[in-house]
Amino acid sequence: MERVLDVKNLKVYYYTSKGPVRAVDDISFYLNKGETLGVVGESGCGKTTLGTALLNMPTPPGKIVGGQILINGTDIVTLNENQLRKNVRWETIAMVFQGAMNSLTPAYTIEKQMLETLRYHRELDDQEARERIKKYVNLVGLSDDVLKRYPHELSGGMKQRIVIAMALFLEPEIVICDEPTTALDVVVQAQIINLLKELKEKLHLSFIFVTHDLATEAEVADRIMVMYAGKIAEIGTNEQIYGEQGPMHPYTSNLLAATPRLHQKVDKLSFIPGSPPDLLNPPTGCRFHLRCPVVMDKCRTEEPPLKEVEKEHYVACWRCYNDE
Ligand SMILES: Nc1ncnc2c1ncn2[C@@H]1O[C@H](COP(=O)(O)OP(=O)(O)O)[C@@H](O)[C@H]1O
Ligand SMILES: [Mg+2]
Repeated sequence: MERVLDVKNLKVYYYTSKGPVRAVDDISFYLNKGETLGVVGESGCGKTTLGTALLNMPTPPGKIVGGQILINGTDIVTLNENQLRKNVRWETIAMVFQGAMNSLTPAYTIEKQMLETLRYHRELDDQEARERIKKYVNLVGLSDDVLKRYPHELSGGMKQRIVIAMALFLEPEIVICDEPTTALDVVVQAQIINLLKELKEKLHLSFIFVTHDLATEAEVADRIMVMYAGKIAEIGTNEQIYGEQGPMHPYTSNLLAATPRLHQKVDKLSFIPGSPPDLLNPPTGCRFHLRCPVVMDKCRTEEPPLKEVEKEHYVACWRCYNDE
C-alpha cells in the first residue's frame, strides 16, 4: 500500500522554564493513502502536539527536536517557512484544530471569515473565491444561506462543518481532525462522523482522527494508534483492537474496558487508576509501568521498543513480544 505519510523517530519538546517537556518522544508510524488512522490516548499524552508537528507548526515553546516527517517522500522538517506555507500547510496536509469551531471570529459573517482564510493562501478573484466557498459549504452539508450568518447564529454542528470546510478548501491530501466531535452532543457527533466518512470517500482523503475516545475510533478508523505519555503504546487494525482477540498492550485494554460502548450492556465500568505522568520527568523504563496491572521488574528500568508482533500489529510492551 502507498504511504502518504511516514514519520520516523519524531521528537517534539516544549522548552519551559522548568526544563523540556517531552510531549512526543521518538515515535514512528505511517499513514496509508486513503485510510483513517485513529490516534487515541488520555488527555496529556501528546496527541495535539503530534498533530501540530505534522504540519511542522509546533506551538511555542514547542520544537521539533528530532526525526523526519516524510509526506509523499519529502521530509517537511527540513523545509523553511516559505516552502511550508506554499506547498505543505493546508495545501497538502490540513488540520481541524481542537476547539476551532469556538474560535470563529464573532464579528465576521461566515462568508467573510472563509474568504479571508482562503485569500491568505490563494490569489483568487472575487468570483472564484466565492464559488469555491459555496462549493465547500455545500460539500459539508450546509446551504448557501449560512454564508450571511454570524457564528453565534449557528449550532455547534454547523460551526464544526464550517471549520471542516475551511480545512478542505485548498484540497489537501491529508486531513488531521483533532477531537472534532468532543464538544458536540451524541446525535451531532454521529452526523459529523458520517460527514467525515463521506468526505473521505468523495475526496479520496487520508485522515488522522484524534480523540480520547476509543468508542468513536471504532466507528471511523481503519487502524488505531494508541499514545501514552508521548510514546506509542500500540498500533493495530480496527479488527485487531476491537475484534475477538482484543488489544495487546495493557494500557489499550484498560482504555477499552473504561469505554462504555453503545449497544452493549455495561455491568461494571472499570477505570485506570492514576493519571498520565508529568512529561518533564517521565518515568524510566516503560512509561506506563506505574499504572500497569501486570508490571514486571524489567518494565521499571528498560524501555520496551515498538515491535511488530503480527502483521500490522505493533506493540511496546515486554509482556507482548513473541521472543521474550
Ligand atoms: N504550550 C505548552 N507548553 C508546555 N507544555 C505543553 C504545552 N502544550 C502541551 N504541553 C504538554 O505536552 C504534553 C502533551 O500535551 P498535548 O499534546 O496537548 O496532549 P493531548 O492532546 O493528548 O491532550 C502535556 O504534558 C502537556 O502538558
Ligand atoms: Mg489534545
